[in-house]
Amino acid sequence: MALKNLSYIPFGGDYNPDQWPEEIWKEDMRLFKLAGINIVTLPVFSWARLQPAEDSYDFDWLDKIFDLLLKNNINVCLATSTAAQPAWMSLKYPEVLPVDFEGRKRKHGGRVNFCPNSKKYRELSVRLAGKIAERYKNSTNLVAWHIGNEYGNYCYCDNCAKEFRLWLKERYGTIEELNKRWNMNFWGHTVYDWDEIVVPSGLNEMWKEPVRDGSCFQGISLDYNRFMSDSILACYLGEYKAIKEITPDIPITTNLMGTFKPLDYFKWAEHMDIVSWDNYPALTDAPAITALRHDLMRSLKGGQPFMLMEQTPSQQNWQYYNSVKRPGVMRLQSYQAVAHGADTVMFFQLRQSVGACEKYHAAVISHAGHENTRVFKECTHLGKELMSIGDRLFDSKLKSKIGIIFDWDNWWALEFSSGPSVELKYLKQIEKYYSAFHAMNIPVDFVRPEGDFSAYDIIIAPVLYMLKPGAAENFESFVEKGGSFVTTFFSGYVDGNDRVQLGGYPAQLRKLLGLWVEEIDALFPNMSNSIVMKAHQEHFRKEYNCGMLCDIINTEGAEVLAVYGSDFYEGRPVLTVNKFGTGRAYYIASDGEEAFIKDFAKYLCEEKGINSSFDAEANVEITQRFKDGREFTFILNHNDHEATVSLGSGNYLDILRSSEAEGNLVLKAKDIAVLEKI
Ligand code: GLA
Ligand code: ZN
Repeated sequence: MALKNLSYIPFGGDYNPDQWPEEIWKEDMRLFKLAGINIVTLPVFSWARLQPAEDSYDFDWLDKIFDLLLKNNINVCLATSTAAQPAWMSLKYPEVLPVDFEGRKRKHGGRVNFCPNSKKYRELSVRLAGKIAERYKNSTNLVAWHIGNEYGNYCYCDNCAKEFRLWLKERYGTIEELNKRWNMNFWGHTVYDWDEIVVPSGLNEMWKEPVRDGSCFQGISLDYNRFMSDSILACYLGEYKAIKEITPDIPITTNLMGTFKPLDYFKWAEHMDIVSWDNYPALTDAPAITALRHDLMRSLKGGQPFMLMEQTPSQQNWQYYNSVKRPGVMRLQSYQAVAHGADTVMFFQLRQSVGACEKYHAAVISHAGHENTRVFKECTHLGKELMSIGDRLFDSKLKSKIGIIFDWDNWWALEFSSGPSVELKYLKQIEKYYSAFHAMNIPVDFVRPEGDFSAYDIIIAPVLYMLKPGAAENFESFVEKGGSFVTTFFSGYVDGNDRVQLGGYPAQLRKLLGLWVEEIDALFPNMSNSIVMKAHQEHFRKEYNCGMLCDIINTEGAEVLAVYGSDFYEGRPVLTVNKFGTGRAYYIASDGEEAFIKDFAKYLCEEKGINSSFDAEANVEITQRFKDGREFTFILNHNDHEATVSLGSGNYLDILRSSEAEGNLVLKAKDIAVLEKI
């Protein structure tokens, strides 16, 4: 569902007029106009202002802002304000306050500080959302809904425990089944009654260490994550339903946070009309990492364009080192979002706060209060540019032949695992594979193990530790029909409850991969092994480093492409391929160095005839979006120096420069181009 009535890329962001006296609002409008701002998100944190007491609401100030915005042709992404409950509510209904991982009852304050299973919280938040919807349902500048803000609040209170038991009963039916699923014979955990089930937290099964979270009972902890993700989603859904009834045509979203572990965003996205997310890269984050997050967010709803709900025009306040964005970088990162599927460019925030922890967070209008700042000028330049693009890019889509499997259940289970190595991090593995394709400017989607693979030639499943029902069959039918499938060490170990699947890893993937795993060795950081290629092959060096984990495997039909170079398993397979149907299934038994992953990615693409249409030096990112038979190419120079890109034989319209482009395109440091093929 695209943004209501829009056909261009909206530009704007979070606006907190309730933090300012009314005299400032007019000046805000003047500055918004100057900067080309045409959308604001509000009121994100105004519950206390909108509802001073349980039986009284105050919308007058918001009515005035709405009018002012309408007069100035500024659209509204209307927030429900439910991320921070008013103090009176916490006081009157202590059940609203959560209990933390360490078992401490929290006090009022901060934000997103409520128990997701509190009936009072749900009742009052849904009521407020409904009231706001009733009040503004006919506003012609209402283009989207923004529920809550950055959900992610796990709670461990007695009320959550009660709800958890119900959730489990619904899922497993009988207590016997639950004992089986959680393997409760271990450490004498058998329960005989639902009331005996205790929430897993820092008080019993779990612990948090700087380098890893741990659990004595992965099955229990895993279900608690699922239950919390569902409980928090239920808060969102309550508001969603209330709003939908009143404004069925306005798309509803909540701002997600990219690779955010606590919530299963694939599941959440099923209930969002449009995905939106907040992009806050650190100065040191590689462009590939930001690109990955955009691609994951785009993939949540099968490639539909998403909203860039927040980014900072320059500094953050909450990182350890809050660098300013260098000249050109805010623009570059904005186009990077659009290049990966964003249909909006929005900031946190429009006017910089005076007090509390975000007062040093940048804004379009800084503490200086006028338009003569570098940041304001850069925003203005971008606003004008986006306007000049018109309706060309809005609602255009990316196309990808490569899918990387991403699964929250797998992420949780893998990192709850006690062994084999503390170094094993799901995102690091995903990043390695993603970055290899990104470096070649080959587009990638993310997809769930049970997803639809029909659009893809290559599916990569890094450390697919957990195999849920149906996943293996899905991979098999993909390969049977000619696809290339890749998986790695520590895959196919457990079922959906983190119970080991007996008979040899990787369980149901054995047939597809033509091998079984007998042991898995964990190396210390100063130890390594090597991947020795069997025969010298184009694209591959003779030898690569590998480490962290080394599966010791036995083939049962797979062809060996490379073997380990040392240790007692020297000569045993480390890279294999199995022909299956008309496709191939690859297995990478150890954590290869970056060069290996890159060479392997290149080899896979070559095998499938996938390549980038453009030649560019490192750190020049290129993507394409398509719409109505038109093709738009984004070229982003992340380098600190000028870069030349060969455009091959095509002719292009350079949209931002209003000129034709062919042959070689020269881009200054941090500069970008959007080309339309003509
Ligand atoms: C998040 C929140 C905003 C603001 C910014 C600051 O993304 O959604 O309300 O706090 O962080 O970076
Ligand atoms: Zn709770």
